[in-house]
Amino acid sequence: MSAAIGVLATDDGARAVGASLGLPVLAAPEDAPLLLVSTARGLALQETGAGAPGPVCIELVRGKVGWRKEHGASTRDPLCRALGLHKGTRSVVDATAGLLVDSMALVHAGLSVLAIERSPVVHALQQDAVARAGGVPGLTLLQGDAIALLRSWAGTDHAPDAVLVDPMYDDERASVAPKGMRVLRLAVGADLDAPALLLAAQACARMRVVVKRARHAAVLGGAPSFSQVGRSTRFDVYLRG
Ligand SMILES: C[S@@+](CC[C@H](N)C(=O)[O-])C[C@H]1O[C@@H](n2cnc3c(N)ncnc32)[C@H](O)[C@@H]1O
Repeated sequence: MSAAIGVLATDDGARAVGASLGLPVLAAPEDAPLLLVSTARGLALQETGAGAPGPVCIELVRGKVGWRKEHGASTRDPLCRALGLHKGTRSVVDATAGLLVDSMALVHAGLSVLAIERSPVVHALQQDAVARAGGVPGLTLLQGDAIALLRSWAGTDHAPDAVLVDPMYDDERASVAPKGMRVLRLAVGADLDAPALLLAAQACARMRVVVKRARHAAVLGGAPSFSQVGRSTRFDVYLRG
């Protein structure tokens, strides 16, 4: 289940966005487990309560994503290889865009990326991050349910070469997840319909679908064509045709 998200009455910046998203305006932080807040680094999600970590915003210029931008993502990057960059993949739908870490790695590797996010609040954070970065060539954001969108694009000119599926983990990883993913998990809940998303992706992708999983997690659907196993992450690759 996802947590209720509110906006503080005193936070003018977040209130404007919150109004467009229909978020409740709160008198005090403890009135909701999660707040949409405006910070010097942009729009962010903030857990409330004693000992809560700091706000989480989407960072496209600094940190790991910024490093990739400066140095370019390697074509040997496991995600890029799993998606078949070396086999001719040029267009990717990131069906589970979240904090845009994976989308940005693909953009910096030269791929054209359509990033779909179904949570309107997370999509608002993404739009804010892209605006603060002055735009990101190669990246298009779309708010909606990727299952319906991919189904409607199957067999049309909208079908991408590859689709990336990285669903939110269920509860077992919650205690060890990094701060950003923990807050995202609170905001959107578990993606229990991920098997249906994989089927829609398989029906739509021209060349392949990649499912990103925790290293020891069960497969999402049938047996993959092959898997690339890293230290903590596994990419299950489903080849088409
Ligand atoms: C684990 S996070 C993805 C993290 C992302 N790979 C990154 O680099 O930040 C999963 C995200 O996918 C979104 N999502 C899950 N199912 C979706 C669907 N059917 N359509 C669109 N977005 C979806 C969730 O709301 C959540 O934000």
